[in-house]
Amino acid sequence: MIKYLYRLLLMAGVVFISVTSVFAGNEEDRVEALLQQMTLQEKIGQLNQLSVGGFDQNAAGMMRAGMVGSILNECNPKVLNRYQKVAVEESRLGIPLIISRDVIHGFKTIFPIPLGLAATFDPELVEKGARVAAVEATANGIRWTFSPMLDIARDPRWGRIAEGSGEDTYLDAVMGVAMVKGYQGEAIDQTSMAACVKHFVAYGAAEGGRDYNSTGITERTLRNVYLPPFEACVKAGAMTLMTSFNDNDGIPSTGNGFLVNDVLRGEWGFDGFVVSDWASIYEMVNHGFAEDNKRAGELAINAGVDMDMMSYAYISHLEELIGEGKVSMETVDNAVRNVLRIKFRLGLFENPYIDEQRAEEVLYSPEALEAARVSAVESAVLLTNDGVLPLDKSKVTTVLVTGPMANAPHDQLGTWTFDGEPAHTVTPLKAIRDLYGKDVKVIYEPGLTFTREFNEDGIAKAVKAARKADVVLAFMGEEAIMSGEAHCLTDITLKGDQRKMIEALHATGRPVVLNIMAGRPLVLDFEIEHSDAIIYSFHPGTMGGPAVAQLIFGDETPSGKTPITFPKNVGQIPIYYNHNMTGRPYNGTETMLYDIPLRAGQTSLGNTSYWLDSTFEPEFPFGYGLTYTTIEYSEPSVEKTEYGVNDVLRASVEITNAGDREAEEVLQFYVRDMVGSVTRPVKELKGFKRVKVAPGETVKVEFELPVQDLSFYGIDMKKKVEPGKFRLWIAGDSASGKPVEFEVE
Ligand code: NOJ
Repeated sequence: MIKYLYRLLLMAGVVFISVTSVFAGNEEDRVEALLQQMTLQEKIGQLNQLSVGGFDQNAAGMMRAGMVGSILNECNPKVLNRYQKVAVEESRLGIPLIISRDVIHGFKTIFPIPLGLAATFDPELVEKGARVAAVEATANGIRWTFSPMLDIARDPRWGRIAEGSGEDTYLDAVMGVAMVKGYQGEAIDQTSMAACVKHFVAYGAAEGGRDYNSTGITERTLRNVYLPPFEACVKAGAMTLMTSFNDNDGIPSTGNGFLVNDVLRGEWGFDGFVVSDWASIYEMVNHGFAEDNKRAGELAINAGVDMDMMSYAYISHLEELIGEGKVSMETVDNAVRNVLRIKFRLGLFENPYIDEQRAEEVLYSPEALEAARVSAVESAVLLTNDGVLPLDKSKVTTVLVTGPMANAPHDQLGTWTFDGEPAHTVTPLKAIRDLYGKDVKVIYEPGLTFTREFNEDGIAKAVKAARKADVVLAFMGEEAIMSGEAHCLTDITLKGDQRKMIEALHATGRPVVLNIMAGRPLVLDFEIEHSDAIIYSFHPGTMGGPAVAQLIFGDETPSGKTPITFPKNVGQIPIYYNHNMTGRPYNGTETMLYDIPLRAGQTSLGNTSYWLDSTFEPEFPFGYGLTYTTIEYSEPSVEKTEYGVNDVLRASVEITNAGDREAEEVLQFYVRDMVGSVTRPVKELKGFKRVKVAPGETVKVEFELPVQDLSFYGIDMKKKVEPGKFRLWIAGDSASGKPVEFEVE
């Protein structure tokens, strides 16, 4: 009876008086009050996360015994309510489960993959998308998502490049914060889904672009490049964090106390909980860092990892480790506090259950689909255009829709879409027929049925069909399965017969418009040569079809910019815009390997930092993207040229729309610190703005930069601004624009 009353009061969140504690509604008091009543086994149970599929009696038995704090991999509301009922009504203390899932770029309504979302350079839109995901997922019982992934990635061979925001620290931080805000919501309510920033840390720097591989990032580079997005998200209130699989400089992240205890909690004051990645505690045995799972558990808990995802290390060994004095009771108590704090913060004690009726109702709302469409429009990058785009409906009478991605409802959703339903996907073929079928005749001949296919007959059919059309719209790319976790490549050109098909279509003499849907930046030299325009859509999600159709026919204007450098070939990797200044920068006068004979008097092919066989430049630099008009930039100007370390710098530029179509331009603000106590990047993004410009209009755009934002970890490993000379650029991408100088005293 007393137990029942206790639960009732707990769920109502009202004042509760027990023998041991005063339960006053305050988060910390509630945590302490509950902790006081827990047995060691119940404490360890809160640190244990279990994967379930369907209602399993063994799992339910563990929950009843207080041996499970969280579950993952189930999202049927009825099943989840049953599990929750066992935890809340049949276990001794009635502590609710925190139910988790990988909701990475949408739950049912799928948005572009995170790399595509980063190409929007539109954090408000990204926040909106994360909110849609949270509303849909929480209605189905998911209160914790393993997103955003904040791994800086500079190697497109790495399959998980699809899941992050690309190569730049600032853009990654801005997009991460937007997602955290969107998932968790402004005020915590039943639609709040706890965010989990991952993977802590340097996972994206896997050697050779091979997943799970070792990394060797120095502490300074961690602090200057890899950690700031995590810090920004922690400051924005991210409730949880996941450690990564990799070892960095020989230490697996899941056993790295410096990172978790010292930096995350000590320096940044993180008060949420830390979860391991899937079996990453156990994998310290594979790493040769622990002799067995017990030792791995000891290393993880002492490093500050609160929850064990599927290693069974805590549930099997923590009690013994405490008995042996290898893990202190205080360490376990702190981990339990961290987990309980988030459960209270999310309101799980008050509202542990889901309204099963509501679950279906909120999915695929018109607002959600519209947000997904706009996201797919803004994430598409126009890479090349010889003038064929946008298509002029009054001149084009017949289009050929072709290619393996023209009607690939599953594959255009991209990686990590456990819950996305292809039946709801609008493909380019469907969208072109529905939206423009009345204006133009649409012929469909896929050529290849999937992206890795070799099929000469199919190509021949597509070529035949092309001859009957005025324009060829070819949808190429990578199937969803070609990127994502563990799906890495050494060759990042289009697979199967796609190049052959593009070449054959181009040879018909018809204009070829390529739309590429992929999980990574691909090598596109061949495609550029054999097409008239390229729109790069990454994997654009549920509403990718209407988005690209409207871009092609000019009802929308391209505004996306590359969130990552596109290499000319695999040999250039890693190539990223914000590399450090070298002692022999490329100066453009070098001779390429095939420029023979040598110029008169020349004795070498050059002595600077470049590749003899592919220059120094990438195919497309970071921040690049065309639109259907020309945007002209004035030289930037600064309000003054000298600043103190606590000042705010103001700079501005004028942009003019020199064409006859409206555009939305993403202006980018870059800075170079000319001399540092350690070498500094040639450029660093410090801000960006999306601005609408009408035809013929000139708009003045201003940027503000607190001088403190120029600080970095220098030779003494302390974060500060180093006075001296700087340059700034305001430009349409990372490779253009003229700099102005300023000085910090
Ligand atoms: C492993 C992945 O690395 C991680 O990102 C994901 O959240 C977990 N599996 C759970 O599915």
